[in-house]
Amino acid sequence: MCGIVGYIGTRDAYPVILKGLKRLEYRGYDSAGVALINGGLKVYKKKGRVADLEEILIGKAVSGHIGIGHTRWATHGEPSDRNAHPHVSNSGSFAMIHNGIIENYAQIKNELLKKGCTFKSDTDTEVLLNFIEDIKRNNEGTLEEALRYALKRITGAYCILLIDKDDPHTIIAARKGSPLVIGIGRHEHFLASDASPIVEYTKEVVYVNDYEIAIVRADELILKNLGNEKQTPFITKLDMELAAIEKGGYDHFMLKEIFEQPQTIYDCLRGRLDADKGTITMSGIQQYAEQIMHAPRIIMIACGTSWHAGLVAEYIFEELCRIPVEVEYASEFRYRHPVINKGDVIIAISQSGETADTLVAIETAKEQGAIILGVLNVVGSSIARVSHAGAYTHAGPEIGVASTKAFTAQLAVLTMIALKIAHQKKAIDEERYHVLCKELMAVPDKVAIVLEQNDNIKKLAEKYKDAYDFLYLGRGYNFPVALEGALKLKEISYIHAEGYPAAEMKHGPIALVDETLPVVFVATKDAYHQKIVSNMQEIKARKGKVISIITEGDEVSPALSDDVVIVPPADEIVAPMLSVIPLQLLAYYIGIAKGYDVDKPRNLAKSVTVE
Ligand code: AGP
Repeated sequence: MCGIVGYIGTRDAYPVILKGLKRLEYRGYDSAGVALINGGLKVYKKKGRVADLEEILIGKAVSGHIGIGHTRWATHGEPSDRNAHPHVSNSGSFAMIHNGIIENYAQIKNELLKKGCTFKSDTDTEVLLNFIEDIKRNNEGTLEEALRYALKRITGAYCILLIDKDDPHTIIAARKGSPLVIGIGRHEHFLASDASPIVEYTKEVVYVNDYEIAIVRADELILKNLGNEKQTPFITKLDMELAAIEKGGYDHFMLKEIFEQPQTIYDCLRGRLDADKGTITMSGIQQYAEQIMHAPRIIMIACGTSWHAGLVAEYIFEELCRIPVEVEYASEFRYRHPVINKGDVIIAISQSGETADTLVAIETAKEQGAIILGVLNVVGSSIARVSHAGAYTHAGPEIGVASTKAFTAQLAVLTMIALKIAHQKKAIDEERYHVLCKELMAVPDKVAIVLEQNDNIKKLAEKYKDAYDFLYLGRGYNFPVALEGALKLKEISYIHAEGYPAAEMKHGPIALVDETLPVVFVATKDAYHQKIVSNMQEIKARKGKVISIITEGDEVSPALSDDVVIVPPADEIVAPMLSVIPLQLLAYYIGIAKGYDVDKPRNLAKSVTVE
């Protein structure tokens, strides 16, 4: 999932593009490149980070008021200088950058090869670019017309920016499936995959829709559909501050975002949950409350960490609302030809709101009559625009590739929705409802207490950083938290780790246990606690190293554990927002101890915008 930046206006384009690429580097960091027009087309690109590109451009001709820039997450063609974007057409006239995948590129490439076209890279992007040039040459039309025709012939996802050396006043852009935001300034326009490269220049933005082409000049922005009909740009105001996308004195965005959670969970509850009055106000959900209450089932659709939030929500919704819940991996749901019944409610959970698997899965379900509710963090994202309604998690921009604050905010929103529906449905009694409202409102302060264990967890990381494998175990609400802990460790430290329902261990994984295997138990006090203590004994009996996340006052688990992290007492329904924090910090500090770039883990990208 690449990062795309473009600029046209009165400033020098290169510094704007370079800064923008650095802001988008969490989307992909295999290579970077820039193309500028200034008395001809200048294209520079390099394998590696944006800083490596910046390095080779010191002293080079980088002036010009129009330019496009790209930071890559490799899909077609390995990370290398020649596969880096921008790509240049055979004639040398056009340069293009692309985020997405052209699925039928091989067939088009064969057609072009037969016509004598040559290729310098292995990418689908260079094929599309030369296809556009071929159409332009054969039809003697404009570049825009050639692009429109080409886009009708390709399949896949794309956000592309295209410039022509003979027209230094225009950037042509197009999107389908991959995000594109255009920032409107005075005599200038900014183009990017998300708002983070734009917010310091303007708060006025246009989110480009699927199948739209944008003709962008310093003083003009024209939107058209593939039918060549003009579309009215819908300008929205960004509610994001520059500080939110800076590190704020922390070494890494991941650590900053972990420590932001008392505030971000509070921001999520603020203006919605009034625990004293026992009211939950969620206008985006209220309008579908009847359908949710009487839904034959609720299907949570998501990927990665968001899928884990869906799994916690399954326990909560079934317990409180007594509505059957299924939790689906979006990528499997999409192609499994699922049975969608009228009235089924889909809850799409996504931090970025751009994850292609989730987006395509809910589009499929929507076509079959399901109601789509989004639980999303990025305002104006593609999933938000496909959903019928929903609730934002208000966690602020999440820059660290490993999702942390978005997860706890997702749990806070999903818990509020479940409580609201259960209360309206009278599925739980008043007393339980009010207790849970207070428990939820108490979470931000309790998370702040858990974060005080930071130094203790740093020591634990030092102790276990050389382990080859980890096992994470939990029961009930803590099972998905165990999965999340294992995912965080894998993402950040590249140590193999598995999350498992603690009881399931006896059916196989226990064979892995010996004195070299750290086993992390998410064992906060709940209805299953007695059971998980027995599981701890089973691990200890095989000399496994037990690290337990336990509730203050738990006198049994410490005796069975090599190391413990204590969290404040909390109802089992909200405890996952506490017990996950030590697991986020453990992964962070093990990654640091191993010398890895925890904000940009290898092979990963923040939002996966291709299937
Ligand atoms: C989590 O740390 C990962 N970044 C990844 O698993 C992520 O949760 C997944 O790609 C889903 O992203 P989304 O929430 O933006 O849809």
